[in-house]
Amino acid sequence: MGTEQQVTTQRSGTELNALAQRHLWMHFTRMGAYDEEHQIPIITRGEGCYVYDASGKRYLDGLSALFCVNVGHGREELGEAMAKQVKELGFFTNWSYTHPRAIELAAKIASLAPGDLNRVFFTSGGGEAVESAIKLSRQYHKETGNPLKVKLIARDTAYHGTTMGALAATGITGLRAPFEPFTPGGCHVPNTNTYHLPDDPNRDPLWAANAIEERILFEGPDTVAAVILEPVQNAGGCFTPPEGYFQRVREICDRYDVLMISDEVICSWGRLGEWFGAQRFGYQPDLITTAKGITSAYAPMGAVIASDKVFEPFSHGHKSFVHGFTFAGHPVAAACALANIEIFEREDLNGHVREHAPAFEAMLNGLRDIPIVGDVRGDGYFRAIELVKDQDTKASFSDAESEDLLRGFLSGALYEEGLICRADDRGDPVIQLSPPLIAGPEEFEFIGTVLRKVLTQAAGRL
Ligand SMILES: Cc1ncc(COP(=O)(O)O)c(C=O)c1O
Repeated sequence: MGTEQQVTTQRSGTELNALAQRHLWMHFTRMGAYDEEHQIPIITRGEGCYVYDASGKRYLDGLSALFCVNVGHGREELGEAMAKQVKELGFFTNWSYTHPRAIELAAKIASLAPGDLNRVFFTSGGGEAVESAIKLSRQYHKETGNPLKVKLIARDTAYHGTTMGALAATGITGLRAPFEPFTPGGCHVPNTNTYHLPDDPNRDPLWAANAIEERILFEGPDTVAAVILEPVQNAGGCFTPPEGYFQRVREICDRYDVLMISDEVICSWGRLGEWFGAQRFGYQPDLITTAKGITSAYAPMGAVIASDKVFEPFSHGHKSFVHGFTFAGHPVAAACALANIEIFEREDLNGHVREHAPAFEAMLNGLRDIPIVGDVRGDGYFRAIELVKDQDTKASFSDAESEDLLRGFLSGALYEEGLICRADDRGDPVIQLSPPLIAGPEEFEFIGTVLRKVLTQAAGRL
């Protein structure tokens, strides 16, 4: 990049920052943290696994922006597919009418989804998909003669979105408390994190699944509509299921006529090396919620994928699912999703993730000698490192220590070193990684080098 161009970009970066600080309200962001000295990171350009900020500095996007740019940045063909669609039909709805791209995409998704998940209800994003799945579960039970089945069981610390219904499922106190009361009926059960549990050879490995049954019985099976769970739970740091967990949950759901919702807003579209996370762990949900990677985030889109069983009460007579969003199934987003899936197929991205995930895992496990690296967990291209004060006792950091470690040091230091990842303390403090699915050995090496340097520095500060 020439000096002149760099200066121009820098100048415009400063201007952009001033405008952002004056007018932009960023999500989940402490706006008060920014001033003339503390600038907002502004990402201006992306290519493959890398993005560039307003000064031209390059970063490895170790988070796929927000677990979503699955095919990587700068895929012109997605833009071309969208431009072509704009020329043909810029917009039409899925209310009463439809259009070719929504139909083609629904059919394509149905062909990729597990089992009899054949019916696709589009949304504009993940929270809307979760909201829709919750409402669909309630209406389904009303239509099938169980009007009292309204409650939703979710797992502790899980993030399912921020709309009032989805928030009832989200199990993170800090995100819930400012907005209570919200939609009644949300109940929580333990997630599958076992890192902090004392070793106990007598504990049933499926105890966390059994807790769902206990909760259904406690609430009254006649009142429970659905259970919602992610294949690998993001918030808290990539909690994977023990062998047989989802199969047990399936049995429990069947026993009490409770719908099983697999929230795959992150865990679909190759993130775990399969189209859908349910396929990775071999279970058959009644509903899948998806978003993010469906278009690799080049256009906003989400979907609820419903089984034949769930669709059946709506398939005849005067019945309809009385719910919708203007932009859901937008033709431009649908064209993008179809082109995105074509890239997946052409480049066998699921196969690529399956092939390289062990090297990614091995690289992260190689950091275990750093004194604050407690646990390393996850699956596919979706991994987390839990940070601890003491590896032997697994003692976690206090809130104040965590604040200092994550916000006071790690987030800034990792970014400074050219790595975008997430230092998160919605549960115990973790570093989360979720690179574009095209990443391979070269990117893992860079991630490993930066993490080793920054985590070693962080350990030295204690
Ligand atoms: C599992 C899960 N569900 C729902 C959502 C909400 O999606 P969105 O931010 O697109 O509304 C997210 C977002 O990260 C998520 O990870």
